Amino acid sequence: MEIKKVGVLGCGLMGSGIAQTAATAGFDVIVREVSGELCDRGFAGIDKSLARFAEKGTITTEQQTEIRGRLRGTTSLEDLADCDIIIEAIIENLDTKRDTYKQLDAVCKPETIFASNTSSISITEMMTSTSAERQKRFIGLHFFNPVPLMKLVEVVRTILTDESVYERAVEFGKQLGKVPVRAGDKTGFIVNRLLVPYMLDAIRALEEGVGSIVDIDNAMKLGCGYPMGPFTLGDFVGLDTTYYIAEIMFNEFREKRFAPPPLLKRMVLAGLYGRKSGRGFYDYTADPKNPTPMKLV
Ligand code: 3HC
Repeated sequence: MEIKKVGVLGCGLMGSGIAQTAATAGFDVIVREVSGELCDRGFAGIDKSLARFAEKGTITTEQQTEIRGRLRGTTSLEDLADCDIIIEAIIENLDTKRDTYKQLDAVCKPETIFASNTSSISITEMMTSTSAERQKRFIGLHFFNPVPLMKLVEVVRTILTDESVYERAVEFGKQLGKVPVRAGDKTGFIVNRLLVPYMLDAIRALEEGVGSIVDIDNAMKLGCGYPMGPFTLGDFVGLDTTYYIAEIMFNEFREKRFAPPPLLKRMVLAGLYGRKSGRGFYDYTADPKNPTPMKLV
């Protein structure tokens, strides 16, 4: 079960980061996107990130060229047929994922391990779109943004995952230079189960007038040593993504701590998604490096 060739589905923020990380670790990587334009956009992000590492001296310019040489883009699922593992990082939509896995199951060799980078969709629910044999080789590999920098990967097993496949995946996580943690297929796994209620609580604290956006951010950053306060982090992750994860977790557990607060819902409805849309808890439009807090309550 040696892993040599890695397939990545999706070349967005997470997919491109995963592809870059795998190529940096020495694997041959093929990335599939639905259009050449999206593929080019993802590869431009990889080039920018590799250039930053080269500038800092984390990698040499020769290594930068070698890493780039191990990466290839495609728009065809068939090109992933001989991959040893495929990591899926496409849109967080159950039907789209199930449909993609079904197609992939028909073209891939029997040994290929299927891994999803989903943050909140049940691995079991995706897995059942594939054959009984593939279901034993179906896991979650949940990475964190920005993937080339964040050291963690959650390795998720279902009740049907084959023990040797699971251990191979844990080993693969280490080969990628990450620290793997083992988690069961419970919505949110470890990190989002703890992180999402914390971020939602910060929004409730803001709604209740406990403190301002800047003060709550500074409190958690400087008082707890977190690299970003909860609102900066929410804008970084994307408030639409945070809302979506919270909704899935609330539907699964029916616990108040996972319920998205009204302010978050209204911000998402108003298109305030965070950094990617220019405005969220902060306004990034004038100076992205020095954003100003929004007036929301
Ligand atoms: N590629 C290469 N280098 C990068 C990079 C990238 N994609 N992103 C940042 N860097 C480099 C910068 O160039 C900079 O280098 P320097 O130190 O030599 O100047 C260094 O990383 C630090 O970057 P910045 O100065 O821009 O900012 P920070 O010091 O704040 O570090 C951070 C950035 C690593 C993102 C840090 O703020 C952090 O750890 N934040 C928390 C991120 C986090 O919690 N992520 C998880 C989100 S939850 C998730 O993903 C799960 C999902 O399911 C929701």
